[in-house]
Amino acid sequence: MLDKESVMKVLSGIKDPELKRSFTELDMVRSVDITGGEVKIGINLTGGCPFKEKIADDVVAKVSKLEGVSSVKVEFGEMTKEQLVQLKEKLGVGQKKGDDPASIAKIARRFIAVSSGKGGVGKSTITANLAAALARLGFQVGVLDADVYGFSIPRMMGVDGVPKAFDDKIVPLRKGDNLQIISMGFFISEDEPVIWRGPLLHKAISQFITDVMWENLDFLLMDLPPGTGDVTITIAQAIPSAELLVVTTPQATATNVASRVAKMADKTKLKVIGVIENMAYYDNQGQKDYIFGKDGGKKLAEKLGVALVGEIPLITSIREGADSGKPVASEGSEKEISMFEGIAQAIVAMKPR
Ligand SMILES: Nc1ncnc2c1ncn2[C@@H]1O[C@H](COP(=O)(O)OP(=O)(O)O)[C@@H](O)[C@H]1O
Ligand SMILES: [Mg+2]
Repeated sequence: MLDKESVMKVLSGIKDPELKRSFTELDMVRSVDITGGEVKIGINLTGGCPFKEKIADDVVAKVSKLEGVSSVKVEFGEMTKEQLVQLKEKLGVGQKKGDDPASIAKIARRFIAVSSGKGGVGKSTITANLAAALARLGFQVGVLDADVYGFSIPRMMGVDGVPKAFDDKIVPLRKGDNLQIISMGFFISEDEPVIWRGPLLHKAISQFITDVMWENLDFLLMDLPPGTGDVTITIAQAIPSAELLVVTTPQATATNVASRVAKMADKTKLKVIGVIENMAYYDNQGQKDYIFGKDGGKKLAEKLGVALVGEIPLITSIREGADSGKPVASEGSEKEISMFEGIAQAIVAMKPR
């Protein structure tokens, strides 16, 4: 029978595109009026919502399927101040600015910083693919692009847009159900220079940790800028439980700088959990060509007393996937998917500290 209850049930299955919760759960349904087969639905939004049309289409499409419905009309209104306060409570934001260690620990189960001694070794590529692999396994994954000068996560993960500010929090952009992403690239264009001095940089990174509305993260992956700079120190200070994954090529110079990163980790109390050797070899028709030398990653891992969690070959498709926003870990061949899945699982199996 067509009644308010059956309409509410349908609405409980439709999510706000930005807040990712259903309209009923967020108490956004103001009214449901049914006259014969005509259904009129009032929905209150947070104000300035850019998705009105999409929401209306969604609601009309789904409610129309109910038996006995001849027409559906959606009328939007804005939430009152009190309703906004309640909404914030529901979403668990707004009360506290939250940069004390206890509230930071609540952001994610594990915080993993991906680091390298120098640029161009594939750190961002690995971060993007590891995130995609973990998301594929069903984990809720945040990606914080902390390389504010040389951000590449938006392009590599294929996400673009301007994050919405909600109250005093930034809503991260989403990809699929399991990825939440924030990058300086969402706020400025790629050809704009970013010139920040230490304190401002520190502030930007801190905000990306505490002022972003990260939701129920299993992992927060952080793509660090190359080297042993300020950003790493900021992260170490803000997140005492952060773990460090070191990416290197097999080349000696790369491993030397990488070991500097590890030493710095020691000083900053970040825990090194493993080494990933990237560009380990080139698969030349079944024969492995060790273009950048051999076993550099293995030696570094031994030196650090941690596991070598992956050896990733040079493959054209990895570069193509990164350039086109389709990480091979989720959108590549079976072999590529399982390679990154193996790395993801090795990391999942490590005990968080
Ligand atoms: N295993 C790989 N095979 C092929 N190309 C790769 C591989 N890893 C990284 N690349 C490419 O190398 C370049 C540098 O990688 P990037 O992730 O931007 O390095 P970093 O973040 O360390 O500076 C990118 O163009 C990327 O697509
Ligand atoms: Mg990078």
